[in-house]
Amino acid sequence: MNTIIYKIDPSDLDMTKIKEAGQIIADGGLVGFPTETVYGLGADAMDASASAKIYAAKGRPSDNPLIVHIADLASLTDVALDIPEAAYKLARRFWPGPLTMILNKSSRVPLGTTGGLATVAVRMPSDPVALALIKASGTYIAAPSGNISGRPSPTLAEHMIEDMSGKIEMILDGGKVGIGLESTIVDLTGPVPMILRPGYITKSMLEDVLGEVTVDAAILEENADKNFRPKAPGMKYKHYAPKGDLTVVEGEPQKVIEMINHLTGQCQECGQKAAVIATEEDLEKYQCEQVFCIGTRAHEETIAANLFDILRKMDDMGIDVIYSESFYNGGLGQAIMNRLLKAAGHQVIDADTGAHKNCL
Ligand code: TXA
Ligand code: MG
Repeated sequence: MNTIIYKIDPSDLDMTKIKEAGQIIADGGLVGFPTETVYGLGADAMDASASAKIYAAKGRPSDNPLIVHIADLASLTDVALDIPEAAYKLARRFWPGPLTMILNKSSRVPLGTTGGLATVAVRMPSDPVALALIKASGTYIAAPSGNISGRPSPTLAEHMIEDMSGKIEMILDGGKVGIGLESTIVDLTGPVPMILRPGYITKSMLEDVLGEVTVDAAILEENADKNFRPKAPGMKYKHYAPKGDLTVVEGEPQKVIEMINHLTGQCQECGQKAAVIATEEDLEKYQCEQVFCIGTRAHEETIAANLFDILRKMDDMGIDVIYSESFYNGGLGQAIMNRLLKAAGHQVIDADTGAHKNCL
């Protein structure tokens, strides 16, 4: 299949191209498009055979449900049932934006879109290209992140092209996404709202609106060695894994630098191609030949925005072994570390003691 690629300026939408993309969705085809979090791989959410094409293109297990993207609040009642007041409160504060809510699904949403579940994940994205595409399609758009299953989520159109070229009808190139981590997922079907995936909308931001909010025990660090089953089916898969062996090094900053210098020195002796992921503040302190700047600790959004791109660059360069600093601080720390530790297969070294830990 020849994949059409259109550049779209988000501040000056070319509606002819957007309508062409919307028609592809309406006709049951697949379109890659930008959202404010990551690029999505879109299909008609209300058509099970269109959703099935998403699973095929990504190589995604069919029990892993898709997020349904809507463009206005009135559409919520088309896709969800028994909508609690909490959903409207969150929608008023955070939509359009990087928040996905789990609600009971309406009968109109096919089970093929929800991975067989009676609940549905719904999000109203804020990216102008995404909103215009949903409206132009005349339907709702099921869209997982646009990567091949197991690879880092796409934050640039180039990543989508790399993973999906030749497999889908069209890719809309809206440039680099703003946030760079997938949306926060909150489950509103239980007695207390529960975060199933951390993201840009933090627990305290949700608590501001809702009062008590819990976090799925399976994604909390202290439960790393216990066999909890994540409530978001997608969170159980090994994600974002670079081809190189990635380890996160934690501890007192100066010790982390010393430990990483020691470890990369060993790699060089063994003839392995090593790389370091570090923040701007520390770049000069590493002896390794390949040091990747992930952003600055002064603005943790920069760390979030660059993480997936850096993991892909490591693959392109054939890096064998990667050591990364850790980035726990700030409101986004939980979301960043959730993705980084998944990418590392939860391999962590404590720089203070040299001990290997297993962390979520
Ligand atoms: O930011 C985002 O959310 C991006 C953009 C494209 O909107 N999409 C995205 O989709 O990250 P995906 O498919 O990569 O991740 C969706 C996650 C998966 O972990 C899936 O298991 C979970 O949402 N999920 C979807 N429906 C669910 C449901 N009914 N109950 C529990 N988890 C659900
Ligand atoms: Mg994904």
